[in-house]
Amino acid sequence: MSVPRDYRPLLLRNQGNEKARHLDYYLAHGGYTALKKALFEMTPKDVIQEVMASNLRGRGGAGFPTGLKWSFVPKDTDKPKYVVVNADEGEPGTFKDRDILRFDPHLMMEGALIAAYAIGARETYIYIRAEYYAEYRILLEEIEAAYKKRILGQSVLGSNFDHDMYVFLGAGAYICGEETALLESLEGKQGQPRLRPPYPATHGLYGCPTVVNNVETLANVPFIIEKGAQWYTQFGTEKSTGPKIFSISGAVQKPGNYEFPLGSLTLGELIYEVAQGGPPGRKIIGAFPGGISAPVLTPEEFDTPLDYESLAAKKTMLGSGAVMVMDDTFSPVTYARRMVQFFSHESCGKCTPCREGVPWLLKILRKIEAGKGTQHDLQLLRNVADGIEGTTFCPLGHSAAVVLKSFLDKFPEAFEAAVK
Ligand SMILES: Cc1cc2nc3c(=O)[nH]c(=O)nc-3n(C[C@H](O)[C@H](O)[C@H](O)COP(=O)(O)O)c2cc1C
Ligand code: SF4
Repeated sequence: MSVPRDYRPLLLRNQGNEKARHLDYYLAHGGYTALKKALFEMTPKDVIQEVMASNLRGRGGAGFPTGLKWSFVPKDTDKPKYVVVNADEGEPGTFKDRDILRFDPHLMMEGALIAAYAIGARETYIYIRAEYYAEYRILLEEIEAAYKKRILGQSVLGSNFDHDMYVFLGAGAYICGEETALLESLEGKQGQPRLRPPYPATHGLYGCPTVVNNVETLANVPFIIEKGAQWYTQFGTEKSTGPKIFSISGAVQKPGNYEFPLGSLTLGELIYEVAQGGPPGRKIIGAFPGGISAPVLTPEEFDTPLDYESLAAKKTMLGSGAVMVMDDTFSPVTYARRMVQFFSHESCGKCTPCREGVPWLLKILRKIEAGKGTQHDLQLLRNVADGIEGTTFCPLGHSAAVVLKSFLDKFPEAFEAAVK
């Protein structure tokens, strides 16, 4: 495999171009052509089928097939339906949605409008984290511009489809990125996950059918509708189609957002060639391939292609596409402790294994890190992690346990040395 250097980004085509976010620029460069095509040449069913045929999978972390998700929304209901855009981007190391919101907000907005047409939604809510205040302002301005050009409001682009779009500033917690906690927060309640089933597709915002999609997921949609699923599937592998933005950070010389087709390069190529490797004199010891919830990989495993299936085969995941690289500045014990500390801090407290178990993991890790741990503590760490894995109400607590176990499995010498 080699880095596809001649690949021209789709989602990041305007990265760094401050003018590109404006509606006039977007329209002058073919913007809203896909929406027009959907509204005037396709039925909602056609749109869903095209997205299904594209094999687009959610870019928010779970990788759920987008067209399938849309197809679950009931057609024969009197209830209002909603599209909710997940712009919470709380996963550590993830900063890809921000570039879309900053440089190409209409790409996401067009995707959201197409999704709304497909499921029959009258309103879209964009849930954006409060830290992205500049992007929030951009969205407000661009939504206003879209209303003036009749891209939003009554009779979108002269069709018989009406649509309103709102922006909501998030509540500053990692858990509010989890789609059901996000819906609670959007309804003005404390952001805690809901029991599922029922799923948001039937019981979402205010108990009504709702599609929740990530910013990057929706930014793919205009390309699929305008150019067709067949064109889209030329990017990526058979099962992992399309482009993907990788946010790379940590121990690399050129951190940032880079877009490539899924499966077109390996984790090692992204780290050593694209991001130009670790700081001089430092040794890279491992990486999270898909955000903090993705079990870590060591350099021996860096030849894994960056796609859903290849990473799953290594018992980890693509997640949000956030690659966080670790070098030997700190010991694996410290990296593990910091990871667990994050989850412990962000636990919403709703279920016991996470609320009690994750701080317990942190306590044991702190003891080991301070050189006061014993063999018994190492065993206890694993036992507590086993007790959390698969027993939590949402994936947050489960991830803390699974990722910690990946550290214990991949760096046994470091943990053994720390308890000697
Ligand atoms: C703890 C937690 C945090 C999450 N944070 C985000 C987030 O910040 N942004 C996001 O798009 N998805 C996040 N997700 C995933 C969402 O629950 C959901 O799967 C996603 O918004 C669906 O959109 P997609 O199908 O387009 O990926 C998170 C999930 C969990 C469990
Ligand atoms: S796993 Fe953690 S974050 Fe998720 S519901 Fe339970 S306590 Fe809340």
